[in-house]
Amino acid sequence: MKIMRVIAKQGRVEREQAEVLVLTHFEGEPSFQDDASAVDRALNGSLRDLLKSGEFEGKQNETVLFHNPGKAAAKRVLLVGLGKKKDLRLDTIRQAFGCAAKRVRQAKATSFTAALPQGSLPRTSAIDIAQAMVEGAVLGSYQFNVYRSENPEEAKNLARMTVLTSRAEELDDLKEGIRRGVATAEATVFVRDLCNHPSNIMTPSRIAGEAKIIARERGVKLKVLERADMEKLGMGALLGVARGSHEPPKFIILDYRGTGTGGRHAKPIVFVGKTITFDTGGISLKPAENMEQMKADMTGGAEVLATVRAAARLRLPIHVIGILPATENMPGGRAMKPGDIVKTLSGKTVEVQNTDAEGRLILADGLAYATRYKPAAVIDVATLTGACMVALGQFAIGMFGNDEALKESMRKAGLKTGERVWEMPLWEEYFEQLKSDVADMRNIGGRGGGMITAALFLSKFVGDYPWVHLDIASTDWSERERAYIPKGPTGIGTRLLIQYLIDRSL
Ligand code: BES
Ligand code: ZN
Ligand code: ZN
Repeated sequence: MKIMRVIAKQGRVEREQAEVLVLTHFEGEPSFQDDASAVDRALNGSLRDLLKSGEFEGKQNETVLFHNPGKAAAKRVLLVGLGKKKDLRLDTIRQAFGCAAKRVRQAKATSFTAALPQGSLPRTSAIDIAQAMVEGAVLGSYQFNVYRSENPEEAKNLARMTVLTSRAEELDDLKEGIRRGVATAEATVFVRDLCNHPSNIMTPSRIAGEAKIIARERGVKLKVLERADMEKLGMGALLGVARGSHEPPKFIILDYRGTGTGGRHAKPIVFVGKTITFDTGGISLKPAENMEQMKADMTGGAEVLATVRAAARLRLPIHVIGILPATENMPGGRAMKPGDIVKTLSGKTVEVQNTDAEGRLILADGLAYATRYKPAAVIDVATLTGACMVALGQFAIGMFGNDEALKESMRKAGLKTGERVWEMPLWEEYFEQLKSDVADMRNIGGRGGGMITAALFLSKFVGDYPWVHLDIASTDWSERERAYIPKGPTGIGTRLLIQYLIDRSL
């Protein structure tokens, strides 16, 4: 999906000739904020009457649309509730603008202007607020219509958003917030698109094609290892998973070097993303119910692609490597069978007791490959375990890691983006569940702690550098539509990774 254009502007709300002027209001506040009160005067007190009547209370995500707004220059005014002032978070703003954008589109308008909510979040810069407004609006109006023959209603998406401030000194911050918000939202849209495409289209080869397009960005280089290269290197785990499929596997490496990346920024941040373009489970076949959702088992890889692209587009002064081990997981005459033993790139051997635990196998080779970059940090992101869904439900990403500072940065980025992480233990005691009678380890940990044993398995392929593993299996797919999250692929984790890079390069 092509995203709308977003611009910053200085001006007075009541004089703004917008198709729709979007204003926010806190629940339980008797009067309007500066901006809205100027509009209220232009409307001869209609906003105030609306509050008095109780028709609009300002509850979170509540909207009301006005026509012919008196002496105000806008054609229509849309009021959006932010809920109680004391409960305000950046995510409240994101949600409010997700709802606002949908309401604007429903009203058949293609553009709107929004005033920056004023004095709302102490210790939060106008940059962060503008960024959240843009993210909410762009992500809330997301649609995926590529395969619909006709649906003009939906096809008509928003074309432009203007973020307005009356203060000249705030304009530069608005512009920077918009620049960041556009980059993170565009990245998330890219991930949702890739995950929405079915597996007959979004094959490992097509993913390599997407990486090739990203390699056109300034500072980005691409290398794709083919099956023969993987054989030469000894990537037995990835090759084992790929055996059942007729689609050739790809090992994709993107390398972005920003300008000025000498000195302390010289060592790269390496991202490794699980890229299973379809997970049938292999010979340990999955049940049919909901299996179609396994087209999104490449979410981690898509997020890594999007992160490298965003780093390049934002011209971040850092060195970033993206690694995507990509294959299908299929049953077939040559497919890997339970009990088979594979030799990983690291040299360690693994007994494959369940071919559906394939994510950790391809990541084992991806993580081992990452060590050759002597990384400053490695972050892997994967739709790894159903157990993650059981433990954390819809709202948290499972986090594991070996470095307090890195984990703390992820937690911070999580709070800022609303894509929050929750740490789980990586205790060595759990390793007894991964012991094999015939190989160095087995690929499943039996009953109990399924998300933990998967992470612990990965840790055995990690070198001596800060590492974080993110299990996004509970958040990558949404069962219902929310303010700025659609039903289906969510792209959650993308903004988290990019925010981590932004914060790191400041
Ligand atoms: N891709 C799945 C995990 C998954 C499940 C992601 C549901 C999103 C939603 C993964 O490859 C898998 O099948 N894991 C198995 C591991 C088990 C065999 C140890 C699982 O979680 O059941
Ligand atoms: Zn699986
Ligand atoms: Zn999988």
